[in-house]
Amino acid sequence: MGKTRTVFVCQECGYKSVKWLGRCPSCGEWNTLVEERDFSEESFSLIRREDPKVLPVSSWENEKLIRESTGYSNLDNALGGGLVKGQVVLIAGEPGIGKSTLLLQVSDRYARDKKVLYVSGEESGSQIALRAKRLNINNPNLLIYPEISLERILKVLEQENPSLLVLDSVQTTFSEKLESSAGSVSQVREVTYRITEYCKERNIPAFIVGQITKEGSIAGPKVLEHIVDTVIQFEGERFNFYRIVKVIKNRFGSTGEIAVFRMTDRGLEEVAEPSAFFISEKAKAPGSVVFPHTEGSKPVLLEIQALVIPALYTTPQRKTQGFDPNRLALILAVLEKEAKIFTRDQDVFVNVAGGMTVKEPSVDLAVAMAVVSSKKEKEIPQDTVIFGEVGLSGEIRAVHFGDLRLKEARRFGFRKALIPKNLDLEIEGMEVLPVSHISEAIEFLF
Ligand code: TYD
Ligand code: MG
Repeated sequence: MGKTRTVFVCQECGYKSVKWLGRCPSCGEWNTLVEERDFSEESFSLIRREDPKVLPVSSWENEKLIRESTGYSNLDNALGGGLVKGQVVLIAGEPGIGKSTLLLQVSDRYARDKKVLYVSGEESGSQIALRAKRLNINNPNLLIYPEISLERILKVLEQENPSLLVLDSVQTTFSEKLESSAGSVSQVREVTYRITEYCKERNIPAFIVGQITKEGSIAGPKVLEHIVDTVIQFEGERFNFYRIVKVIKNRFGSTGEIAVFRMTDRGLEEVAEPSAFFISEKAKAPGSVVFPHTEGSKPVLLEIQALVIPALYTTPQRKTQGFDPNRLALILAVLEKEAKIFTRDQDVFVNVAGGMTVKEPSVDLAVAMAVVSSKKEKEIPQDTVIFGEVGLSGEIRAVHFGDLRLKEARRFGFRKALIPKNLDLEIEGMEVLPVSHISEAIEFLF
């Protein structure tokens, strides 16, 4: 046997180097490179498939994907119609958000007529039993296996041959072949590769739980994204009951799709109409705007709130929840330069109500108008929705899915929409107000 090859792996981003470095050249973090045995070449060759045929594109159409339900129709829709055989789904989220609860519930429904193996390294069998009792789950086809050794898990998989696998979590599982500790980059990769290989060979779907922390993750889902088929993020505020499943990557469907749940004392419940849910508590006061959000095929109406008050300290605060604070700073600068709305001696708070995080720039105009509304202490008409990207010179730029956004707003009784002029949209039953500049939007509303 030859000499064992070792590599230095950045625990932050997964960068590999043949020699030790104080600073990772890829992500710039200090002291994150750790020496590990190099299993990468072996691991890569693990996922092998049959030799594919060469066929014209239309001939492949017949190879229809067979989908199976997760037992929750909103989750099925977000995944593009259910789980595909052999599909590996990484579910990422902060501790305590409800990943284990969701997967135990999905396992229970899946196990109505099939065998499910739920492997847990996070909790003991009795802890899971306690949760199951709370959720009223008592299914003989749902097998719980509290284990952390990958080799033993694979052995049990061979014996039990389940129709669905849940691995909770990738950070607590480790391969005995590797010297590094559980949760390190090479361990989580190895575990994910080997589980994926098993699932592809046996043609069974799997959910793998990946913990992430608020500060950003060490050996988290980022380094696993390219191995798995699908990445879903489970988010929400821990002390709030909304829980949102967001599809970040999907080889078998589109990204940006969402499914909304509500956490109750008996577990998670599907929310069939997320828009109704999010705007049900909307404030009838200055600073509140309804924004039709979408990154995928399903829009959802969200309430954007802004609060502008005289600053308490010399450096005024800009605080946000569910929205990028740097983007807010930019919008405030544009409002000042292009519309003479001054907030430099004011604290500005912006909040996406309901615990959802919005990253798409189409929310800019809604945020800007919420700020102006709070500053002027003038309400925005209750029947109005707003969307559009704000450019650096105050121009309002076109965004995707305008049509879908308007339809969703109309469905919930909204009658007016402030939208980018370039979209050139019309919709029956709604008054569309096209604007090309931020000052024009302010004139329309106030
Ligand atoms: P959990 O699924 O353990 O989160 P994760 O696996 O992401 O760490 O969820 C834990 C939280 O959920 C915990 O704070 C209690 C709450 N919870 C409920 O509110 N209702 C329930 O029925 C259950 C099972 C949990
Ligand atoms: Mg858990």
